[in-house]
Amino acid sequence: MTDKELFAEAVKAAEHSYSKYSHFRVGAALLAADGRVFTGCNIENASYSLTNCAERTAVFKAVSEGCTEFKAIAIAGSPSDDFSKPCSPCGACLQVLSEFCGDDFVIVLSNGWFRLSDFLPKRFSEESMK
Ligand code: THU
Repeated sequence: MTDKELFAEAVKAAEHSYSKYSHFRVGAALLAADGRVFTGCNIENASYSLTNCAERTAVFKAVSEGCTEFKAIAIAGSPSDDFSKPCSPCGACLQVLSEFCGDDFVIVLSNGWFRLSDFLPKRFSEESMK
């Protein structure tokens, strides 16, 4: 699967975004090591802080189905139908991704690809507690 194809899956996933408060639609497409793709969207709540981001929706879907090894995630976010402006993952999603993904895990945005270590170079992990 190419970065472009994975990004297109993220844009498609944003169609299901439940974002009646922010009106900012986000979709994510998480590519597993075995080739499966788990998609997710942001799911907002009247109690704002209970909102779940698209990336975490995708990760939780995958892990709940027994899949814990990942290669890449594409993220598409927009207040309109134009997903050309890059939407970076938030800190909470990066931390959740870092539970399962190494420094070389790829993050695909509308303007190119990055590594998890670009966004979260000094991550807190299990190792930090030893
Ligand atoms: N959002 C995501 O889905 N992913 C991110 O990484 C950043 C923010 C969502 C949460 C909320 O529904 C909306 O975007 C505005 O913050």
